[in-house]
Amino acid sequence: MIKGIIFDLDGVLVSTDEMHYLAWKRLADELQITGFTREDNRRQRGVSRMASLEIVLEKADRVYTEEEKAELAERKNNYYLELLEHMDESAVLKNVKEVLAGLKERGFLLAVGSASKNAPVILEKTGLLPYLDKIGCGLDTTKSKPDPEVFLVAARKLELSPGQCLVVEDSAAGIEAAAAGGMKSLGVGPFYRLLHADYEAPMLCEVQNWDEILK
Ligand code: BG6
Ligand code: MG
Repeated sequence: MIKGIIFDLDGVLVSTDEMHYLAWKRLADELQITGFTREDNRRQRGVSRMASLEIVLEKADRVYTEEEKAELAERKNNYYLELLEHMDESAVLKNVKEVLAGLKERGFLLAVGSASKNAPVILEKTGLLPYLDKIGCGLDTTKSKPDPEVFLVAARKLELSPGQCLVVEDSAAGIEAAAAGGMKSLGVGPFYRLLHADYEAPMLCEVQNWDEILK
C-alpha cells in the first residue's frame, strides 16, 4: 500500500526546464558546440549536472580535462542561477499546490526526490516548502538517476520502505531509477508517453485516477 509520494522537482512541480536548456545552450554556444539540440536537452532531464555536461560535450571537437569540466559545470550553474534570480511562485506548474494539499489531507507523506543541488533554493523561492515533509536532492547523493539513490534517500527520510512509495517523474532516467529502487512510478510532462511509467498523465493536475494509483 502506498503511504508516501516522492516528486521529482524540475518539470514535475516547477517549470525550470527551459531555464536549464537556456543555460546549457549559452555554454554550448560559448564553446562553439553548434550541434546541441532540444533532443540532447531532453536527455538531460533528470540527470545530474555533470552527466548533463557530458551530453553537451558529446558534440565537442576536443576532449576536456576534469578540471575544465568542473569549471564548465560551474559556469553553466551561474547562468542558471542568473535565470533563477527572478523566480517566484509563478514557476509552480498548474494546480501543483492544490494537488499536494489534497494528497496531504488524505494522509500521504510527501517528499521531493530531485537530482538538483538547487532544489532547496527553488522550493524556497516558489513557496513549495510548506507542502513537503522531506527533501532528497543532489546535495544528498553521489549517484545520478537512473541510479535510485535519491529516491531511496527520500524514502528513508520519510521512514517508509521503497514499496510504500510512489515516484512522480518527467524523465526517462527518473522512471528507470524508480523501478531500480523498487518503487511504482507515475510519468508526467511533455514526454509522458515515452517514459514507460506504471501510470501516466500529461500533467500532475490532470491525473484522474489517484485512487487506482495509490491503492
Ligand atoms: C534535474 C534536471 O532535476 O536536476 C536536470 O532535470 C539537471 O536537467 C539536474 O541537470 C541537476 O540540476 P542542478 O540544479 O544541480 O544543476
Ligand atoms: Mg524532472
